[in-house]
Amino acid sequence: MQVVAVAGAKGGVGKTAAAVNLAFLSATSGHRTLLWDLDPQGAATHCYRARAKVKGGATRLLGGKRDLQGFARHTDYPHLDLLPADGTFRVADTVLGTRRWPDRVLRKLLRPLDRSYDVVVLDCAPGLGVVTESVVAAADLVLAPIVPAPLAVRSLDQLDEFVQGQHPGLTLLAFLSMVDERKVLHRQMLDLVRSDRRFALSAVPVSSAVERMGLEQVPAVLASPRNLAAAAYRRLWAEVTERLGLEPGELADLDALRAELGVVVPPPVGPADAETDPVETDPAEPADAGPADAETDPVEPDPVEPADAEPADPFAGWFRDPT
Ligand SMILES: Nc1ncnc2c1ncn2[C@@H]1O[C@H](COP(=O)(O)OP(=O)(O)O)[C@@H](O)[C@H]1O
Ligand SMILES: [Mg+2]
Repeated sequence: MQVVAVAGAKGGVGKTAAAVNLAFLSATSGHRTLLWDLDPQGAATHCYRARAKVKGGATRLLGGKRDLQGFARHTDYPHLDLLPADGTFRVADTVLGTRRWPDRVLRKLLRPLDRSYDVVVLDCAPGLGVVTESVVAAADLVLAPIVPAPLAVRSLDQLDEFVQGQHPGLTLLAFLSMVDERKVLHRQMLDLVRSDRRFALSAVPVSSAVERMGLEQVPAVLASPRNLAAAAYRRLWAEVTERLGLEPGELADLDALRAELGVVVPPPVGPADAETDPVETDPAEPADAGPADAETDPVEPDPVEPADAEPADPFAGWFRDPT
């Protein structure tokens, strides 16, 4: 059994999006997979249409000698189970903090699952607290999404130090997340990390197909397989399996799976969707300049000159002239 933890200090960077899609790819490539949601926000739980309810809460789940299997549920997809989170996970750090050896708890809880699963994906809450320490100690690989900003890339050193402190020699694999190649800075960050061996070759573009997961509750790699973000998750999963020495397996027929499950996802509408959701057959040529920079960096507009004319009568034409 291989344990992949998606973790990092920051929230909102694409950890859950990666965990949801990679766990799906793992399962549909034939690996018996468990996705464990450790975030009280329960976003991964929501994406898999599961109820955010843990019997006895985080205290019972993490506090005793529990058999995790009893908390796991089947998802709609073959080979994929989910361990949901609920709001009680907000006290998970405190619960683990009361244990004698907090950093051994997760490893101990996961050990018996070896019989049932080939891959466990842990979707961590943001932060480098006690739970993340325990996760890192139990993991075979830590995956860290990094947004393409200089400070975010610098924070990787901090994460690396944290990971090596908890689990010397453990592989930390970073990847750029939410990349918008129309932006000059994002292209510069892509160039910058190309020579950094801690980064995966695959970078996940910003895409409304990923955003829509919260609405459709279907992994983007299933709902929009031709989307570039889906292609990036497939490449990223291939890199993860290679690092772990895991058989890559063969991806199931997703068209057949969609038909079987009746997954109908409306195509993106609106110009912004079309721009940020290039599909594989139509890769967007990176522009020389960054049109998106101009779009997202509006300058202060000139003050509007007051019009000379009287303001128009808002009721003009409403009433018939009595004369
Ligand atoms: N590649 C992407 N493109 C566009 N939106 C994304 C992408 N990845 C994540 N998001 C969106 O950004 C928000 C935060 O992502 P999430 O995966 O929940 O981050 P984290 O788990 O790190 O807090 C969510 O609304 C999600 O839909
Ligand atoms: Mg998350």
